[in-house]
Order: sequence, then structure tokens, then C-alpha cells
Amino acid sequence: MSATTTPLLSMRGISKSFGAVEALVGVDLDVHAHEVVALVGDNGAGKSTLAKMVSGVLNPDAGLIEFDGEPTTIPTPAAAHALGVATVFQDLALCDNLDVTSNLFLGRELKRSGGYRDDERMEAMARKVLDDLNSRIPSARTPLSWLSAGQRQAVAIARTLIGEPRLVVLDEPTAALSVAQTAEVLMHIERLRELGLGVILISHNMTDVRAVSDRIVVLRHGRNNGVFDAASSSHEEVLAAITGAPTLRRPRLHALG
Ligand SMILES: Nc1ncnc2c1ncn2[C@@H]1O[C@H](COP(=O)(O)OP(=O)(O)OP(=O)(O)O)[C@@H](O)[C@H]1O
Ligand SMILES: [Mg+2]
Repeated sequence: MSATTTPLLSMRGISKSFGAVEALVGVDLDVHAHEVVALVGDNGAGKSTLAKMVSGVLNPDAGLIEFDGEPTTIPTPAAAHALGVATVFQDLALCDNLDVTSNLFLGRELKRSGGYRDDERMEAMARKVLDDLNSRIPSARTPLSWLSAGQRQAVAIARTLIGEPRLVVLDEPTAALSVAQTAEVLMHIERLRELGLGVILISHNMTDVRAVSDRIVVLRHGRNNGVFDAASSSHEEVLAAITGAPTLRRPRLHALG
């Protein structure tokens, strides 16, 4: 992560309305390689709308996007994939009745000549991406239905690595997890950074955000409301940016972060 290098992704002046609702107004976002950027804000702040633009699911009404310093557009999910953007949406979109390998390659199975599934190559690649993430899932042949919620999230994150991505977008990856499972997923997010990827982490959980992110970008009512260095900012000032409250003078003894 470095503020001086060209960002992997740079969004400027992004606006989006749904009818009369201004979901985003002139929003800026930068993400560098080797950087985890947390995107935080209250319900309806515009986080998912912005993430969907990075994923090519929604298109901005106005604004500029640069990838690697080059102006670009991300009109479709296929265009996002071509740029190296991979997204884990909240519902994970995994299949319980299939094993880990089949889930990793869902919809993009590797084929041998003759059109047959290349199970050996897929299983070897599955093992590699699970190992790259330091996943503790013992076998790539494990049925998904045997896995915990945290391990499923790990599979969904591992799935992004199949396409050799450069930027991974995670929408609320720890929302439904226990403490131990959350710790495991946070470790995987740190692994993505170590692998050199840029990561956008959407989360309501400030403890998680503080544990893994380098910068915290706050949205409020569809507008930028502060960018904070995760290591040096106080919990109070980030909370104040999220809620719009004046910064509390006295430190809270039981601060969430
Ligand atoms: N498809 C849509 N049609 C109409 N309004 C929408 C649509 N998608 C989002 N909105 C509105 O845009 C605003 C931003 O929504 P968005 O889902 O981006 O917020 P969010 O920050 O992700 O919130 P949450 O934390 O609840 O997930 C909200 O007012 C929402 O109701
Ligand atoms: Mg959302």
C-alpha cells in the first residue's frame, strides 16, 4: 500500500440515482495493490451501490473510473472480470450439493479436449488456491454441506482467486459468523493483501474493519464523509463520520474498536 503509487482502482465523482433517490453523489474511491480499504457507513449510505459499480453490476450516471491509471468503464460483470475484479456478494452463491472444487469452478469448469471436465486439473488448482489462502479445509473434495459458515466464506473468497484477480470486493464477509470463524476470514483477507491484491471490504463491524484495513472510507447519505488511516484514527472520529455526530471529546472506555 502506498499513497504515492498509482492506485489500482480510482473512482472520481461517481453519482447514481434510482428515480428520486440519490444513492451516490460525487463519490471518490482509491484502492491500491497490497491495500485493504474498508467501505463503511450506515444502512443506505451507498456502499453496495458503489461496490456494484466496481463489479459491473450497476453503471454510474456520472463519474470517471481508472484502472492502473488508465481511464476505463466497467459496463458488465464480464468487463469487471476482464479487468481482474472479483466480488463476493453477501449471499455467497455457493451450491450445497457440490464439493469444494465444483463450487470453485462453478460456471467456468476446465475442460479437456473432447469437452470432458478436467477434474484432475480443477482439483489441483483448487488445492493451490486453498493453500494460497492458508485455508484449513482438509480436502478440495469435501462436500460444501460439511463446512461451517466460516469455511464457506473461505470457499467464496478462494473462488475469487481462480480468475487470478487484482481487486477483490467483499460485501459483509463476517456478518453471519462466530468469533472464531470471523478470525479465520480476517486471516484470509490479510492473505489477499499479502498476495498483492487490492481489497474493498464492506462491513458494519468496526472491530473487523480495524483489524484488517489500511484505510477506512466513510460514506454518509451517498457522499464521501472522510477517509481515515486505520492505524492512526480514533474509533470516535470514524464513528462520528458514519453517524454525522460531532466527535466525542472524552474517550469511551468500552469503545468497540
Ligand atoms: N435498485 C435500487 N432501486 C432503488 N433504490 C435503490 C436501489 N439500490 C439501492 N437503492 C437505494 O440507494 C441507497 C443506497 O443503497 P445501498 O444498498 O448502496 O446502501 P448500503 O450502504 O449498501 O446499505 P446497507 O448497509 O443497508 O447494505 C438507499 O437509499 C437504497 O434504498
Ligand atoms: Mg449494502
